[in-house]
Amino acid sequence: MSGAGKEPYLARRTFAIISHPDAGKTTLTEKLLLGGGAIRAAGQVRARGERRRARSDWMKIEQERGISVSSSVMTFERDGILFNLLDTPGHEDFSEDTYRTLTAVDAAIMVIDAAKGIETQTRKLFEVCRLRDIPIITFINKIDREGRHPMEVIDEIQEALALDVAPMSWPVGMGSDFFGVFDHIGNRFFTSSEGRGGALDTIKKVEGLEDPELVGELFDNIREELEENVELGGAGYPEFDRESFLEGHLTPVFFGSALRDYGIDQLLDFIAEHAPAPHSQPATGGRVITPDEKKVTGFVFKVQANMDPKHRDRIAFVRLCSGTFKRGMKLKHVRAGKPITVSAPIFFFAEEREIAEKAYPGDVIGVPNHGQLRVGDTLSEGEEIHVTGLPAFAPEILRRVRLTDTMRVKQMRRGLEDLAEEGLVQIFKPAIGTNWIVGVVGVLQLDVVVDRLKAEYQTEIGFETAMYNTARWIECEDKLKLDKFLETNRANVALDRDDKPVYLFKNAWEVSYVGEKNSDIGFRETREIVHTS
Ligand code: G4P
Repeated sequence: MSGAGKEPYLARRTFAIISHPDAGKTTLTEKLLLGGGAIRAAGQVRARGERRRARSDWMKIEQERGISVSSSVMTFERDGILFNLLDTPGHEDFSEDTYRTLTAVDAAIMVIDAAKGIETQTRKLFEVCRLRDIPIITFINKIDREGRHPMEVIDEIQEALALDVAPMSWPVGMGSDFFGVFDHIGNRFFTSSEGRGGALDTIKKVEGLEDPELVGELFDNIREELEENVELGGAGYPEFDRESFLEGHLTPVFFGSALRDYGIDQLLDFIAEHAPAPHSQPATGGRVITPDEKKVTGFVFKVQANMDPKHRDRIAFVRLCSGTFKRGMKLKHVRAGKPITVSAPIFFFAEEREIAEKAYPGDVIGVPNHGQLRVGDTLSEGEEIHVTGLPAFAPEILRRVRLTDTMRVKQMRRGLEDLAEEGLVQIFKPAIGTNWIVGVVGVLQLDVVVDRLKAEYQTEIGFETAMYNTARWIECEDKLKLDKFLETNRANVALDRDDKPVYLFKNAWEVSYVGEKNSDIGFRETREIVHTS
């Protein structure tokens, strides 16, 4: 089932990790990379102090370890399977970027802190995965610490997320009693020779729970619970069902400790065996792009400006949907209607960036460019087609930009445009007045914008409260009606960076009031980023 040895794309696993801050995403990431042989030295990633920066976890790793790690994609190979792990900067710097990255994956690992259960960010990210039917693998982390009873956490997942859960392993003791993890699918017991609480160093292959290896006080104490859970039905949980997992109805649950290495290999084995190969991609005109098509198509899900502060270049991250990409290929940049020769595509291996000679569906290549490529753009071998399903979200916080040194308007605008291109902020240009309005989803993004404009564009800005607190994209099939509406509402209308009109609202009441008064106009909370112009 692993797909190794067949069509190359069948051996691709493209996934992301979603979690609430501090659940252990960075630690797990590093351990997966170590487990996959992508990085060599062991050591823990520490991220203190940098949390509020718009740095992705890769950059934290990069800083900590002094190695060159891409900020967005991590590719490694293990037993003939190529893993593409996409970073979702879903922490305090939560932004649209996170959502869009999830459009480029085929599965996600949801990391949960055993003591905390489902937290706000986990839920938000989970909802995005559910919208896109992305299969979710659950990793309940930190079982080496005092946590809640495993059953309590599992039941919470089941109820809070309305999802079937299939435990794939079970912890033996927790916190100071932590003794190991029993993998009842593979009949393996993971434990430490140091005894309770030690790091993983022993894997015992056992013959079920009756195995003579499994004796001792701790085992005896929880034997009944283990037995119940090995016979899942008895504990009220369904058995793992691959179909149901792939449809996003059931999540396999692994218990582990990223810090102490429990559960890592099991996760990698599971992804290799059961996580889906690259999926089909919906596109305009009702077309569905399948990975086995011969011609290349791909879409930009992320753009990162200033990868190298010395050069104002950017990297567009392109997820391939079909065909075999070869270096030097001439592809059509569909929005611009122009060909683009991809002569120096980048592959993101952990310790180095390599020029990609060939890439397959599921892979992500970095395409250096000077700003032509934008999030949502499609590249094809000539076909006039746009990949769909990459949304822009209405911001929840709007601020007017205040410039300290008015001589730097140009730099400020350029910086804001670049950051908007990365998906960190949205910018709105009011129909009346010249001060731009910046929209974000989380308030900490504002600090990040200030920091980055200062560091990368040598421009100091501040923010003032705008009198608005949310925006909606305005839509109307009837062009005359739309123009009339825009004209009479100039005071509240602005254009987004793609020149699409938005209505700026003062409060939720106004959203419904204006909506009711103008029932022939649509006010949308999200907008598809499809560039058809
Ligand atoms: P994040 O990326 O999701 O924000 O989490 P990160 O990996 O940075 O982990 C957050 C903290 O939790 C780290 O502690 C990390 O060492 C710890 N941690 C991660 N996995 C485990 C685990 O399996 N067991 C235990 N006991 N701890 C784990 P920290 O940065 O050292 O500081 P602090 O937050 O403990 O103060």
